[in-house]
Amino acid sequence: MQVFILKNYEEMSREAALEVKDRLLKKPNLVMGLATGSTPLGLYKELIRLHKDEGLSFKHVVTFNLDEYLGIAQDHEQSYFRFMRENLFKHLDINIKNVHVPNGMAKPCDIDEYCDWYESRIKKFGGIDLQVLGIGRDGHIGFNEPGSSLGSRTRVKTLTEETIQDNSRFFKDQSEVPTYSITMGVGTVMEAKEIILLANGKSKANVISITIEGGVTAQVTASVLQLHRRVNVFLDEEAASLLKRKQYYNFVAKATRKFEKMARAK
Ligand code: PGA
Repeated sequence: MQVFILKNYEEMSREAALEVKDRLLKKPNLVMGLATGSTPLGLYKELIRLHKDEGLSFKHVVTFNLDEYLGIAQDHEQSYFRFMRENLFKHLDINIKNVHVPNGMAKPCDIDEYCDWYESRIKKFGGIDLQVLGIGRDGHIGFNEPGSSLGSRTRVKTLTEETIQDNSRFFKDQSEVPTYSITMGVGTVMEAKEIILLANGKSKANVISITIEGGVTAQVTASVLQLHRRVNVFLDEEAASLLKRKQYYNFVAKATRKFEKMARAK
């Protein structure tokens, strides 16, 4: 895990966008794993800016979203499909046929088959090159709540009360927040070739310290990222505030940037 601590949310988002840009320039048909939530909004804004101002093209990009609420149709105000369309897809030159968000209206009797199809679709495109992740206060990635198998695949997952409470801010009433979701599994996420984990704000400081500096446990599913070979974590100062080895991460980040510069100069 490489940890980058940025001054604020805007810098964190810009830095993550630069990484996406770099990978996209190297591979125009990049297969991206995408996340919803408040955290990646700044990254998406910056990608839209790079598209509009610098002509960064997403024409051949293929995307797979992590999750969707079960029982919520694509055009529902709070569907993750709609979130992605409004906050990213409609502003880019992406081919909507290359976009995948789990189908919240999949029938319970067909769910297993549907989840297998989602996994096979990822494989068909050669796997996810770059996965973007946020993190829940309970350490979830996707909707892989505490106790999820670290080897899990795309499936139905029941949300925790904490997640329902956190997400109720987007609904008129907490009772409207769905209980179930379809989510890529932890195992699915771990097969991505590279991962970007984003977190900002004080409310994420505790879970970030556990994820990065604690032990690997299914009780904090994000902690399994310690076992992945290529994870870049982008944090603002608040989210990084409880990390014990902050100084070391900053030292390594600086040295890494210097090394990359040297490599580019050759
Ligand atoms: P947030 O959600 O970005 O809205 O904090 C993150 C998550 O639940 O994964």
